[in-house]
Amino acid sequence: MNIFVTQMIPQTGLEILRRVYPDFRINAEQRVLSRRELLEQVQGADALLSLLTDKIDAAVLDAAGPQLKIVANMAVGYDNIDVGTATERGIMVTNTPGVLTDATSDHTWALLFAIARRVPESENYLRAGKFKGWGPLLFLGGAVAGRTLGIVGAGRIGSAVAMKSRGFNMRVLYTSRSPKPQLEAETGARRVELEELLRESDFVSLHVPLSPDTIHLIHAGSLRMMKPTAYLINTGRGPLVDEAALAEALKNGVIAGAALDVFEQEPEVQPELMKLENVVLTPHTASATVESRSKMSVMAAENLIAGLAGKKPPNLLNPKRGQVWKI
Ligand code: GLV
Repeated sequence: MNIFVTQMIPQTGLEILRRVYPDFRINAEQRVLSRRELLEQVQGADALLSLLTDKIDAAVLDAAGPQLKIVANMAVGYDNIDVGTATERGIMVTNTPGVLTDATSDHTWALLFAIARRVPESENYLRAGKFKGWGPLLFLGGAVAGRTLGIVGAGRIGSAVAMKSRGFNMRVLYTSRSPKPQLEAETGARRVELEELLRESDFVSLHVPLSPDTIHLIHAGSLRMMKPTAYLINTGRGPLVDEAALAEALKNGVIAGAALDVFEQEPEVQPELMKLENVVLTPHTASATVESRSKMSVMAAENLIAGLAGKKPPNLLNPKRGQVWKI
């Protein structure tokens, strides 16, 4: 079997792969392959272990060739893969849900506090030697405890963010296609429409998957619905937010601040956002704990191995009834 891993991933996953397929190929450079390199290197592959930075579309599937059987993505999100085309061609697609829920929800809280309490901004001030003594007006931020948390998309990660608010005694609002009785029982959360959530929340945190329906879910109009004292947090996917509109809103005091781990055109960041102080930016590292990334690599390897062995991978995304897989 010809297996291609598109970038270096944690050794735990590679070890599992090596035991079954000692000759797997890997892009050993610490960088994303260019489009041309990807199209070249996938040639002849029976399986791809891909990352969210690889756009796996029809052209890549063509370049790989008709023997390609499975694309195992090491990410919970899979908007980088044309799952529809893969399914039509009998190619399995898998992801890595669950094992990054804690890491990603923890990071959401890190960002929430960082923006509310102005942590990076005040640290920069201190490191620049500007701290001349305690001041009653120095770096006043927004309170967290007792305020309203709005969870847009109460799936695994959104629900975990909500659960972790219990220690801060917050009122929780959420949007979701279906009600979440357990979340409601454990946090007192209330399911509302997006507009009500935007109008009432002090912190709006985004956790919906990216799809044609959710691109620019947060646009200039939605930002205007938010309170001028509210904060937006995005650990989902960049294109959920119209970044240019967000930069305008932050500049003009439409909302108080934003904390972003994901961007519309990664690794580019809207230049206007880079200039602002009321925004905290991290480089798509919400799932980046040693534990989480290690488990993600193991899960991706196990999905790939199961698929190639003719078994149903544990995290198969396209299990169509009557589907004939290329095995
Ligand atoms: C990270 O963004 C993921 O989808 O796993």
